[in-house]
Amino acid sequence: MTAPLRVPGAASPARDVEGRGIWRDGLLAGLHPADLASTFGTPLYVYDLDLVAARARMLRARVPARADIAYAVKANPSLAVIAAALSGCTGADVSSAGELEAARRAGVPPTSIVVTGPGKSDRFLGQAVRSGVRAVVVESPGELGRLERIADDAGVVVPVLFRLPAHEGQVFGMSAEDAIEAARRAVASPVLEPLGVHAFGVSAEVDPAVLAAHVERTVEAGRRLSREAGFALRLVDAGGGLGIPYADGDAPLDPAVLGDHLGRLDEALADDPATRDTRVLLEPGRFLVAPAGAYLARVMDVKRLHGRHVAVLDGGINHLLAPALVGRHHRLRLVGSPQPGDRDPVPTDLVGPLCTGLDVLARPDAFPEARPGDLIVALDVGAYGFTQSMPWFLSHEGPAEVGVRGGHAWLLRQRLDPADLVAGQRMPD
Ligand SMILES: Cc1ncc(COP(=O)(O)O)c(C=O)c1O
Repeated sequence: MTAPLRVPGAASPARDVEGRGIWRDGLLAGLHPADLASTFGTPLYVYDLDLVAARARMLRARVPARADIAYAVKANPSLAVIAAALSGCTGADVSSAGELEAARRAGVPPTSIVVTGPGKSDRFLGQAVRSGVRAVVVESPGELGRLERIADDAGVVVPVLFRLPAHEGQVFGMSAEDAIEAARRAVASPVLEPLGVHAFGVSAEVDPAVLAAHVERTVEAGRRLSREAGFALRLVDAGGGLGIPYADGDAPLDPAVLGDHLGRLDEALADDPATRDTRVLLEPGRFLVAPAGAYLARVMDVKRLHGRHVAVLDGGINHLLAPALVGRHHRLRLVGSPQPGDRDPVPTDLVGPLCTGLDVLARPDAFPEARPGDLIVALDVGAYGFTQSMPWFLSHEGPAEVGVRGGHAWLLRQRLDPADLVAGQRMPD
C-alpha cells in the first residue's frame, strides 16, 4: 500500500479530541479535500485514524477501571479503523462471522471479543466458540440450545451473557422468565459458563445521566438474574448508544460527566460482595468513529427545477443511506473554486445518481450554489456510513476508503468496480 498524500509540515495527530471532528480549518485530517479527491477519486470515504485512536483513549481515561470498552465493529468494520479504536478499547463487539473475521484480522485478541446480535448462524457460533471469545450473548432459549450443542461438539466451555430487552416492545433478547430458565440451564451445563447480562437500551444519546441510568438498570437486571439462577455476576454488558452532535452548535456528550456517573456506580458495586468483582462493558461505536469520517462526492450536473438548484452527485444513498433510512441530517461542506464563501446561497437539492426519489443527501434551504466539478463533503459519517449503505442498487461504482494516520493518507479499501458486480454471476445453461 502506498501513502501518496502527506499533511504538509505535520506529523500531528488530531489534538482537539472532544471538539471538532475530521474537518478542521477547511481540511480533512490536515489534507485538502481536492487533493484527496484527485489522488483517490470520488466517491470516497476518508477516516482520521489518529482521531479514532484519540477518542478511544480519551473515553478509556474518563470511565472507571471497572468498565471495559469493546468497539462495536458494526459502526465501521474497516480493519484500520478497528485497529485504531483498539488503542483505547479493551476489545471488540462483533455481530456476524464477517465482523469476527475483521476484528481478528485487525489484531483484536479473541479473548476480548464479545459476540452480540440476533440471528447468529451455527457457522458464526461455531467460529466464535472455536476462537475462544470473551462471551457470547444469547438472545433466546433456542439460541442457547444451539450454542450448547456447538460448544459440546467442540469440547469447549463458552462464557455466556443473557440478553434482556431494554424496554417494552424491543425485539432483542428474551423475557425475564426465559432468561431465568436459560441461566439455570447454563449453570447446570458442563460447557456453558454464565457470566451475566446484556441490554442495549439507548441510541445516539448525548446525555450522560440517561446513559448511566441505563447501565444502572442493566446492573440491577444482572443482580436479579444471578440471584434467581444462582451464578456469580461477573459481567454486565450495557451495549453502546453513546451519541455525538450531528448539527453545528449542538452540545457533545461530556465523557467526564459520564465517567462521574459511572464512578458512583463503581463505588456501589465495590461495596457489595456480590458485585465487587463484576465488570461493566460498554460497546460504543458511533461515539468513537462517527466524527472521524467524511464522505466526498463530486457534483456531476446542476439544473434548475421547481424553483430550486439541483446538484446531482456521483454518489448518494447507495453510499450514505442514513439521510433516507433514518432522516439523519449530516453537516455538509462545499469545496470548489471560487471558494463557496463567494457564492450566493440558494435553496438546493443535493441528490445522488439513483433512479429513486429517495436518493437525496440533503435539501438545505440555503447552500452555496454548487457547480459541476465541486466537491460535497458530508461530515460525521465515520459510523454507519460505508457499512450501512446500499451499494448494489443501480450497480454504480462503490466508494473507496482512505485512512489518514501520522499525516499520511492510505488507501484502505479499493472502490467496488461495476465489473465486480457481474464477475461472480452465472447464467443458467
Ligand atoms: C449490541 C450492540 N452493541 C453496540 C452497538 C453500537 O451502538 P452505537 O454505535 O450507537 O454506540 C449496537 C448498535 O446497534 C448494538 O446493537
